[in-house]
Amino acid sequence: MRILIVGNGGREHALLWKLRRDAPAASFFATQPNGGMVSDCEHLEIEATDVDSLSSWARSNQIDLTIVGPEAPLAAGIVDHFEKVGLPIFGPHAKAARIESSKAYSKELMRNAGIPTAEHRTFTDLSTAEAWILRQGAPIVVKASGLAAGKGAVVCTTEQEALSAVRSMLGDFIFGEAGREVVIEEFLEGEELSVFALTDGEHSVILQPSQDHKRVGEGDTGPNTGGMGAYAPVSIATPELMAEVGSKIIQPTLRALAEDGSPFQGLLYAGLIKTESGLQVIEFNCRFGDPETQVVLPLMQDSLLDLIATVAEGGRLQPGVAAARPDVAVTTVVASGGYPSSYEKSKEVTIPRQLESENCIVFHAGTMRREGQLLTSGGRVLAVTALAPSISEAAEASADAAGQIEFEGAFHRSDIGWREQLRQD
Ligand code: AMP
Ligand code: GLY
Repeated sequence: MRILIVGNGGREHALLWKLRRDAPAASFFATQPNGGMVSDCEHLEIEATDVDSLSSWARSNQIDLTIVGPEAPLAAGIVDHFEKVGLPIFGPHAKAARIESSKAYSKELMRNAGIPTAEHRTFTDLSTAEAWILRQGAPIVVKASGLAAGKGAVVCTTEQEALSAVRSMLGDFIFGEAGREVVIEEFLEGEELSVFALTDGEHSVILQPSQDHKRVGEGDTGPNTGGMGAYAPVSIATPELMAEVGSKIIQPTLRALAEDGSPFQGLLYAGLIKTESGLQVIEFNCRFGDPETQVVLPLMQDSLLDLIATVAEGGRLQPGVAAARPDVAVTTVVASGGYPSSYEKSKEVTIPRQLESENCIVFHAGTMRREGQLLTSGGRVLAVTALAPSISEAAEASADAAGQIEFEGAFHRSDIGWREQLRQD
């Protein structure tokens, strides 16, 4: 079997790691693979968003199955392109990917389908948006409607912050097209939960719920990042709560998308928050989460490949919950100094030889190999996943391993999973 992975971050390294276990004899290809993926797959020098070139390449190279990691190629219609030339691919069509690529669309869909989510308004005009903020007051959340590489949501504690966020989007266009439409919504308080539903458009297999740590600083302080670490399982995700996620969130969303003429096949990511008044959706994504994938897949016992291939070939899933090994996984991101603001690249990375084992996996994200050296090439450089019988052991092992990785300016949070540890103590 010849499998193409589109994308080259930590999530895609975890997909490669899991699919390689599911199909040891398969040949893997990846677009511009990072320094960790490159030794385990063939290098394809095509940009993930160059969907035309990718479909031509996949056709002439007899690719049997393609899996798309990031949202940008999905929004650019990679699935539509592959299907046109008859190639099986896992991911939603561009129209269904709007659930992530347009927050305005996603919020409207939720409102019409009665899916619990923060009250919102959508604006394209700056002065109307400013007036709305002054009427609502703070705290309030200002979001660019389009794709903004995880930087488009600003949680504002004061009206001033909200005004400056909306001015930067609708006045200075700091996110370009992605910020020409802005969603302003009610601030919700509670604990977050990431749920992955692998779906054929109607039936879903729910993977193990996880929790991301978006803020850069310990104790969840400082600006939002793409994610500084994650853990699974999460004890707030009880079987009762997950039944509610299925019946009140995932299933009605899939129905609403299908009724809208955009059935969603692929991985629907529900970013949830458990507020005092119940579960609410913070956002939907049209792909696996990063760094949640780096904990969910190492725990997954079922074959991911079988599920993905069934959906990509237009088959029907047996609804249910994917089996997971009875351990805890914690991943700690090692980031470049300065991230999520500006940071330097091309720092030499040293990973101690004995660090990796059956229960400690180093997933590469922003790394590259050049002339035999491993160098940094992004803000989030590595994600170190530890597996152990308890949250405290897994958290300690992950933070300890992250601390042993060296490059100039490296930093990590050593408190990933702190909420779960407080609950278990
Ligand atoms: P998003 O890009 O919509 O996922 O938002 C990024 C992060 O901002 C979320 O994971 C939350 O931590 C936070 N956030 C987004 N929307 C809200 C909201 N309405 N209330 C509180 N926090 C939010
Ligand atoms: N971890 C959040 C995301 O992938 O969007």
